[in-house]
Amino acid sequence: MNYILIEGVRKRFGKKEVLRGVNLTVERGEVLSLVGPSGSGKSTLLKCINRLLEIDSGRIVVGGRDIREVNPVELRREVVLVPQNSVMFPGSVLENVMMPLLAQGINDEERAIKALKDAELTEEFLKMNAEKLSGGEKKRVALARAIALEPKALLLDEPTAGVDPKRVRAIEETILKMVKGRGITVIWVTHDTSQALRVGDRIASIKKGKVLKVGRRDEFQWEGVY
Ligand SMILES: Nc1ncnc2c1ncn2[C@@H]1O[C@H](COP(=O)(O)OP(=O)(O)OP(=O)(O)O)[C@@H](O)[C@H]1O
Ligand SMILES: [Mg+2]
Repeated sequence: MNYILIEGVRKRFGKKEVLRGVNLTVERGEVLSLVGPSGSGKSTLLKCINRLLEIDSGRIVVGGRDIREVNPVELRREVVLVPQNSVMFPGSVLENVMMPLLAQGINDEERAIKALKDAELTEEFLKMNAEKLSGGEKKRVALARAIALEPKALLLDEPTAGVDPKRVRAIEETILKMVKGRGITVIWVTHDTSQALRVGDRIASIKKGKVLKVGRRDEFQWEGVY
């Protein structure tokens, strides 16, 4: 069954149409890799799915509901975007994971600690100043922050960009373990074609605001994607 359905979605910024009729579905519990050249509209599409941006036309359905009919705050509890840049709030690692939980009225430190552990951040990190962490550690905190919300879907915008190449595989495995264990539906944006193949049940490519190809990882044709 589809969890996310995207139909004929268009989005323009001023005169420039960035999404030009995007059609895409993501099955419940599936990891979909989304690839495509810089500027093709990947981040814009993710932002439209949790209503950080409003689409001009077409429709997006999440869990059977047209997202225009869902309160954006409620939608963002269900569909959590982990942005390209992991911004840390001033404060400790634990406070960074607690903040969005508290914003949702959930005062559950155990849950935050469990999420940090699942993101492979050991106890010694809890009290550390989040803004002083390395890029890769910040990515892990951002993932823990998202997972702690117990979302139904995760929108990952280049989750391993800027990470030490030696740690990329470990982060991929951590993410896959977290999402597969919980049945979370994922759209995973990446520029790394071998990563797209490793993590995605299916791969979709987007070019100039349109979906070019979609296929299972064993059948995906890379020709013309970049
Ligand atoms: N808020 C905005 N206002 C105006 N133009 C924007 C805005 N956000 C994105 N754009 C433009 O929309 C196009 C698509 O941007 P988007 O960030 O979705 O690309 P992308 O596929 O994520 O690229 P990258 O791989 O570099 O992250 C770009 O040309 C960008 O300049
Ligand atoms: Mg982007």
